[in-house]
Amino acid sequence: MAEKDVERTIEALLEERRTFDPPAEFAAQANLNDAAVYTQAEKDADAWWAAEAEHLDWFEPWETVLEWTPPHHKWFIGGKLNAAHNCLDRHLDQNGDRVAYHWIGEPGETRTITYSDLHTEVCRLANVLNDLGVRKGDRVAIYLPMIPELPAAMLACARIGAPHSVVFGGFSAESLRDRINDAECKVLITADGGYRRGQVVPLKQNADEAVAGCPSIDHVLVVKRTNEDVAWTDGRDLDYGELVAAAGADFPAHPMDAEDMLYILYTSGTTGKPKGIVHTTGGYMTGVSSTHRNIFDLKPETDVYWCAADIGWVTGHSYIVYGPLANGATSILYEGAPDFPDKDRWWSIVEEYGVTILYTAPTAIRTFMKWGTDYPGKHDLSSLRLLGTVGEPINPEAWVWYQEFIGGGKTPVVDTWWQTETGAIMITPLPGITKLKPGSGTTPYPGTFADVVDEQGNSVGRGGGGYLVLKRPAPAMFRTIFGDDQRYRDTYFAKYGNETYFPGDGAKLDEDGYFWLLGRVDDVMNVAGHRISTYEVESALVDHKGVAEAAVVGRKDPREGESIVAFVTPKASVDGNDELMRDLREHVARVIGKIARPQSIVFTDDLPKTRSGKIMRRLLRDVAEGRELGDVTTLQNAPILDEIRTKAEGLTGGDE
Ligand code: PRX
Repeated sequence: MAEKDVERTIEALLEERRTFDPPAEFAAQANLNDAAVYTQAEKDADAWWAAEAEHLDWFEPWETVLEWTPPHHKWFIGGKLNAAHNCLDRHLDQNGDRVAYHWIGEPGETRTITYSDLHTEVCRLANVLNDLGVRKGDRVAIYLPMIPELPAAMLACARIGAPHSVVFGGFSAESLRDRINDAECKVLITADGGYRRGQVVPLKQNADEAVAGCPSIDHVLVVKRTNEDVAWTDGRDLDYGELVAAAGADFPAHPMDAEDMLYILYTSGTTGKPKGIVHTTGGYMTGVSSTHRNIFDLKPETDVYWCAADIGWVTGHSYIVYGPLANGATSILYEGAPDFPDKDRWWSIVEEYGVTILYTAPTAIRTFMKWGTDYPGKHDLSSLRLLGTVGEPINPEAWVWYQEFIGGGKTPVVDTWWQTETGAIMITPLPGITKLKPGSGTTPYPGTFADVVDEQGNSVGRGGGGYLVLKRPAPAMFRTIFGDDQRYRDTYFAKYGNETYFPGDGAKLDEDGYFWLLGRVDDVMNVAGHRISTYEVESALVDHKGVAEAAVVGRKDPREGESIVAFVTPKASVDGNDELMRDLREHVARVIGKIARPQSIVFTDDLPKTRSGKIMRRLLRDVAEGRELGDVTTLQNAPILDEIRTKAEGLTGGDE
């Protein structure tokens, strides 16, 4: 983010002065309502995290809470546990009949899955995977729609100790292939298809295309979701439903070391291929269960909790699967789009199931704002008692709208800052304690140490702006990048040294010490709450036969957070016309996924470059957002900018 943007954002935020104290009634019943928790955790963070870890079931106790050899950290050394056991088995005696998921398919069918149902499914599937030769440490890829088989597949892997790598169902065959190959997965679990906005997403077809280039895959397990005809490779492809039905319902949960890998999840980096973020078992389970219980004030006996993310992203891993199940929560699992069949689908679900806690993203909230208050207004949403948001900075207007029209003007709204890398929420209000300010993530979670620093690493202090850093590891934070520890060091610790984690976000501290998160400072865009690197989209564009060179930037978008603008130089013999534009957008959708499709494309004969040949995206961002250009003195080809500017005037939107 350019300095000028930061200033502008800060100014806008500072105008936002409304505050909201925790409602007295809410505070009285909250899981945490004594601010002493902050001072205690600050004084002895290890003791705080150890107490939080005690909420889990351990097969063997740990000896040491934290072993920190910067930039690496290990938690609960010597402890043994199993994530699936913590999410399922330990609830069975008392609460086996409690609903784990109310599943709602997009076309309208429903399934009620109790903890005991899920346990049986997971054990059977673990037997199937075990019979296929999956052992502790083997990686399993999962490419499924939002159906109950998705959490079941993750937990079956966890039961065996085989790290899973879930790939979001909206990703293309090529993205899936790259991720499978990076982790050298042995088995892929997918479905014939999934439903999205009334259409069938051809997952099996994508999987076939991907697996053709994946030598490590021995078998593809296929869930029949849509029951459409799909191609079948005998010997390799296996029917999930048939095998699971025939498998035994007992499978012991393997005792895992606290530091054994639980999963890999890929996320965008500025350069190179996506990074395989590695999460381990003990620390991760401690972090997600603690934050889920305390930030969402979960009352497992009475709450109906709904995190409306997709499990394919980290939000779903931590706050649909591991956190809520570890805490014995009853969750909603909805397969489809918010506007199918109509724009009130979510609100009809809230009403029908009496949802009490809703966790979603600013991009969704802004979309609902655009659709208008009639849709939520048609439904009784009075069951809601707490709202949450994650994924990008929420503008105060959207925060206030959310509280007013969804939360009935009464619910606390928790704005939670975290990342794929941090595994769990890091900066957040505690709803029974924290005075809320719309637009601010407020303060670090107990046991978490954050600061805002300048370029040299000095604290900017209250009232200052700069870079967000974390000064001490928290247990749920990732351990490394799969297969590339050097990249872990270079990406996150080169800037401020091994003891200081640099997440890549700008931030501002206000006079009360509240954190205001300002978005990414690197070349990673935030599109609808998801990180997409400019690099990946550029690579996809250049991969097209008509393209010589491409630069991609994010342009602030009132609804999506950022929308993607591509500046493309066609090859000499190629015409930069509307047809090529359509073609390129489709091409990117195919190579990466629809989410990465540029909203606008500007054709240009050249791109602004430094004398060393680096594309100056900062200037292109100025062009895309129609503002005055920043410093152009290091540019080798300044005149091209005037040309690009003329072409970019009144950028036309895509055909979403
Ligand atoms: O820029 C921050 C933004 O999302 C990034 C993390 O993206 P990802 O790893 O995909 O995980 C998203 C869900 C956890 C961060 O570096 N971000 C996330 N939450 C917030 C946010 N920015 C401002 N406020 C938030 N609450």
